[in-house]
Amino acid sequence: MTKVAILGFGVVGGGAAKLLTDNKNEVAALAGGEVEIKYLLDLRDFPDSPFCDKVVHDFSVIVNDPEVSVVMELMGGSHPAYEYTVAALRAGKSVITSNKEVVAKYGDEFLKIAREMGVCYRFEAAVGGGIPVLSPMISCIGHNKVNEVRGILNGTTNFILTEMFTYGKSFDDALLDAKARGYAEADPSADILGTDACRKIAILTALVTGKLIPTEKIHTEGIVGIRARDVSFATSEGYTIKLVGRCINDGESPLALVAPFLVPTTSSLSGVSGVYNAVQVIADPLGDVMFYGQGAGAGATASAVIGDLCQVLRSGIHYSAPVFEKCSEAADFNSFVCRHYLAFSALDEGKVRAYLKTASLSLDGGECCAVTLPMSEGALKSALAEAGVIPISHIRFID
Ligand code: HSE
Repeated sequence: MTKVAILGFGVVGGGAAKLLTDNKNEVAALAGGEVEIKYLLDLRDFPDSPFCDKVVHDFSVIVNDPEVSVVMELMGGSHPAYEYTVAALRAGKSVITSNKEVVAKYGDEFLKIAREMGVCYRFEAAVGGGIPVLSPMISCIGHNKVNEVRGILNGTTNFILTEMFTYGKSFDDALLDAKARGYAEADPSADILGTDACRKIAILTALVTGKLIPTEKIHTEGIVGIRARDVSFATSEGYTIKLVGRCINDGESPLALVAPFLVPTTSSLSGVSGVYNAVQVIADPLGDVMFYGQGAGAGATASAVIGDLCQVLRSGIHYSAPVFEKCSEAADFNSFVCRHYLAFSALDEGKVRAYLKTASLSLDGGECCAVTLPMSEGALKSALAEAGVIPISHIRFID
């Protein structure tokens, strides 16, 4: 009988406890033996929960208990998740997490300690919710040269965009719904400002390049600036708008970014709706593969956590663990080249015509709407500065 501890009895912790209980036999079959939750660490008490007798408030009870061999850190946030993870690994316990914030900041350090201690550190649930994506990327396609990873990496924002633009819901109502369904972060600004997707693309970039780029160096935009007019433009041109995380890997300095993109309705990413996420990997000689599934929510995320648990119990350290190191050098976002959709005040039309190399330019409802030829961010910034204009909207194309 393996005894485990769950840190954090929120959406994901509750989902993991339920899955371990409801699917006890399936878990035992895959893990090679029964699993018992010995402790649930939380600040709160849960007198009405069937797990109330497992709740403890003091982490030292867990870390000092030699019977506990695996700790599932499902609390989120950097601290005390960082300190608890280091202490558990140093105590010879394997650690499994869904916490993308802590993996994106300290994943390299945790993996190093785990290697030193002969235990496992796994984080499948940190990217793509329930989608098995990190394990296959490491074990099944890691021998390819990965040229690009692009993904819809945040369930909350994809749910909001779908509710707003397919069903006509307001942004605020769609966000409230995402919270009620357990998709959003404790602080949903991490979702809508792109921070959560940024952490996930940092992790994916580390996996494919071995370089963990600090999230502050990743150009990140969220979905708050997207207007109904931008959506009308996208629809009329045969595009949808998706928040996409991208890692472009030239083999030297990877370029990672998160921003809303105009995605052709004919592409696989455009069909990813609601809470679903997708990660597309473009690799050589593999070609193009896409991982798809529910990117948030208790059940889906718990599935990824317990999948890691079963692999740890069945295979121990005999699996392909990722190896990556912190990297302070990231490619300059100014070098990123694409076509740009820009909306300006109609009063700026003359300046836009004079300074921007556009493929199309139209006037509609007091706005001047331009689509540029492919150009770098740096060149676009210079042209806008020379013209002395500030766009009302700016969304890039994925071609
Ligand atoms: N808030 C996150 C999302 C949860 O919406 O994708 C899963 O990481």
